Amino acid sequence: MKNKVALYGAGNVGATTAHWLAGMEIADLVLFDIFGQVAAGKALDMFESGPAIGFDSRIYGSNEASIIDGADVVVVTAGVPRRKDPETGQFPSRDELVKTNQDVMVEVAANIKKYAPDSIVVLVTNPLDAMCHVMLNETGFPRERVIGQAGALDTARYKTFIADELDVSVEDIHGIVLGGHGDTMVPLPRHTSVAGIPITELLDEAKLDDIIERTRKGGGEIVGLLGYSGYYAPAAGTAIMVESILKDKKRVLPCAVYTQGEYGYHNLFIGLPAVLGRDGVERIIEMNLSDQERAMLDHSADAVRSVVEVLGYE
Ligand code: 2OP
Repeated sequence: MKNKVALYGAGNVGATTAHWLAGMEIADLVLFDIFGQVAAGKALDMFESGPAIGFDSRIYGSNEASIIDGADVVVVTAGVPRRKDPETGQFPSRDELVKTNQDVMVEVAANIKKYAPDSIVVLVTNPLDAMCHVMLNETGFPRERVIGQAGALDTARYKTFIADELDVSVEDIHGIVLGGHGDTMVPLPRHTSVAGIPITELLDEAKLDDIIERTRKGGGEIVGLLGYSGYYAPAAGTAIMVESILKDKKRVLPCAVYTQGEYGYHNLFIGLPAVLGRDGVERIIEMNLSDQERAMLDHSADAVRSVVEVLGYE
């Protein structure tokens, strides 16, 4: 296949993203992971499923970073996930992961610069918005080539809960979730519809508030059930971003993008509607927000800034 996608990190999210992408037949895939032969094993296992399912993507894995050589897109999931502390029994927040994963990201960025200098990076590692800052700073890539996956997942969760509540197809739910990937994210009911019918005509305010709250806590809900982070939905959100890039579909997806004046923000990664095509983020769409929506987005931006400050960049 013409395209090559590298999964940098072959844990649950990386491997499941590869799984979704393999079925789409849009690229050959390489999995990299530092842990033993995990990447090679998962890649071979997945590759061997091709004849049964009928996909032709070739899939290889290695614990040598050079396997990502020449990739068009690098999906970064490497890092420490949210995991219960065995001593305290507590889960760290996404933001507490910042320092640990910053060190990981510095090394990842060096390898991407070395082996895939023309790639588009789709980042998934938490705390997402802050890790995007590290990637942008360390690679020196232009902002359109460093994109965070969060809004695609958060929007998918939001749509799932709405479709489930109304007992209608998920395909007819349109909506968007902006802001940072955390409890301050901003689902927008005023911009949500079911086949064009405003959601506010179909669900009362209390029910919508419950759905919004559940969406905001969606990551934590899965961690609470599994004891570790979810991966089917995060991987699916990632896969549709890669698909839009490689097929140059120009889908409008909420992504963590580096602002340079958009929405009045400067030098800050935050989830905004972006047009994703072969050049990465081809455009950031500016929406008219109400005062209340604006205040929520600003609040989310403040939360992102407070984590970014921990990174220690100028
Ligand atoms: C999630 O929201 C862990 O960020 C990931 O599920």
